[in-house]
Amino acid sequence: MNPVLDVRDLRVEFPTAAGALGVVDGVSFDVGPGETVALVGESGSGKSVSSLAVLGLLGRGRIAGGSVSFRGEEIAGAGPERLRRLRGAEIAMVFQNPMSALDPLFSVGDQVVEAIRVHRPVGRAQARERAVELLREVGLPDPERRMRSYPHELSGGQQQRVGVAMALACDPELLIADEPTTALDVTVEAQILALMRRLQREHGAALLLITHDMSVVARMADRVVVMYAGQVVERGTVAEVLSAPTHPYTRALIGSVPTVHTGRDELLTVIPGSVPNPADVPDGCRFHPRCPQAVERCRTEVPPVVRTGEGRISRCWLAEDAGRVPAPTGAPGTGAR
Ligand SMILES: Nc1ncnc2c1ncn2[C@@H]1O[C@H](COP(=O)(O)OP(=O)(O)O)[C@@H](O)[C@H]1O
Ligand SMILES: [Mg+2]
Repeated sequence: MNPVLDVRDLRVEFPTAAGALGVVDGVSFDVGPGETVALVGESGSGKSVSSLAVLGLLGRGRIAGGSVSFRGEEIAGAGPERLRRLRGAEIAMVFQNPMSALDPLFSVGDQVVEAIRVHRPVGRAQARERAVELLREVGLPDPERRMRSYPHELSGGQQQRVGVAMALACDPELLIADEPTTALDVTVEAQILALMRRLQREHGAALLLITHDMSVVARMADRVVVMYAGQVVERGTVAEVLSAPTHPYTRALIGSVPTVHTGRDELLTVIPGSVPNPADVPDGCRFHPRCPQAVERCRTEVPPVVRTGEGRISRCWLAEDAGRVPAPTGAPGTGAR
């Protein structure tokens, strides 16, 4: 089946005083109809920038190379009018902070009604009916009354339920959720993830889920794209990547899954060191200064992208040395679907 979203060799740059700074460097992945693909990596890996590039929301940044194809249509470099129609109606977004999607000055009902009417030629009464139905679908108790609530009167979990309702308002083909549960406590997180999984099945939407948490990947995704320092370092089905990771960074992420006991904020300290600044990426493999398995070659030579199985790739000299064949550049490598 043709992918809903097909990102190939994406490069994104931001202007700086010292010239253009590349923060996303040759990223490729795709998302099939009804499929959930996770982009995972520590903070600063380029996950958000990659997804914002899809929606044409880069601000001062720009797509410096590659392609973004949505249902076969090239949308990298699409005009502002096309991108406006795309956002909300065909591709919807759920953010980490639900308040970034909600306006504190308007009632929940007015905002959901507006989200429906912006893209649909329906009357007010009909949109209102649909809004109540959506709030019920996302599990808000007493939706008729909730329509009149203001965002600040809701808990964080309830706000995110409204965020999900607004994202689903126009039955998008693709939902992009950027750390949708990172701001919530673990119990509420589990509820919101279960809700998203159920609604995605019912609506048949493709889901691009961004997270730093491998346990979220394990619970939610069909395939996973592991990002480090603006590049994809490993990609494959969740079942295969989690049971037999081929990149040391993937192994480190799996080993640093936060538990209820350790608390989620400890994740960043579990892998020693930090993601390099894009202006100062290490020579050779970008992960080598933090890699427990790095050998001399890793410090000086850029590792090739190696095909490690059906639909799987790894950007690591160890995978190459294991006798695997280099993958063609920019190939989606998704034969697993
Ligand atoms: N508007 C911007 N201008 C300059 N650099 C940016 C901008 N937004 C993000 N970056 C840089 O791009 C890199 C990737 O950021 P981001 O995609 O937000 O990471 P992630 O979502 O994986 O945490 C980071 O080094 C970040 O500092
Ligand atoms: Mg981010």
